[in-house]
Amino acid sequence: MTKKKINIAIDGYSSCGKSTLAKALAKKLDYVFVDSGAMYRAVTYFCIKNGIIKDRQVNEELLIKHLPDLHIHFGEYLHNGSRAVLLNGKDVSLDIRSMEVAGMVSEVAAIKAVRTFLVAEQQALGKQGGVIMDGRDIGTVVFPHAELKIFVTASPEIRAQRRFLELQQTQPDITLEEVKENLEHRDFIDTTRKESPLIQAADAIVIDNSELDRDEQLARALKLVEEAQEKSWSTSH
Ligand code: CDP
Repeated sequence: MTKKKINIAIDGYSSCGKSTLAKALAKKLDYVFVDSGAMYRAVTYFCIKNGIIKDRQVNEELLIKHLPDLHIHFGEYLHNGSRAVLLNGKDVSLDIRSMEVAGMVSEVAAIKAVRTFLVAEQQALGKQGGVIMDGRDIGTVVFPHAELKIFVTASPEIRAQRRFLELQQTQPDITLEEVKENLEHRDFIDTTRKESPLIQAADAIVIDNSELDRDEQLARALKLVEEAQEKSWSTSH
């Protein structure tokens, strides 16, 4: 039996290991990995560069006017399993990971027009199946019919520590406190915003990876994929 290419939605709080899991699954299954958060980060980077964000204020009217000029694409796979992020043809993969972008991305992602614009692009990417997308609203809004939905959780301390170690490699001046505050700030906005707030989809399966290493987390998810593929195959025959 050839395994059917399903769509897999992975959601969760900031820095809970969603992307790590999504990347590992995509590699193992030969699926396409899409980091939806990178798209919100690219829009935020664009706003910062073009004076649409000033003094922590987003000029919504100006942003909405510029949305059609924004072309975000995913390029080649990088050594860490991420994909290059291209904003109007320019590689912004590193720029979108700055604390400046992290500090404003949840404000930008709370804007309805931004979500409508990016969700349409994300849905188009998933049309053929075989996509693993991670984010906040993938199982609830982007792919409400995804054959497998995973909700990843980990304790706030562990999440902050992991992100701190990751960011330290490219931003050596960063402090753990700064990272912790940013995660708390984003979690608060992401869970309380009006437009598609971060919530666990009713049919999502939780993986708490506080005590799991990468291999254990991947093994658990692969079992869920196997089950979802079998279920999807039997219901379509
Ligand atoms: O990787 P990390 O958990 O730090 O966050 P991310 O996936 O890069 O997402 C950055 C921000 O984009 C989040 O804090 C959300 O505000 C927003 N986002 C969203 O609203 N919806 C998504 N599907 C993905 C990200």
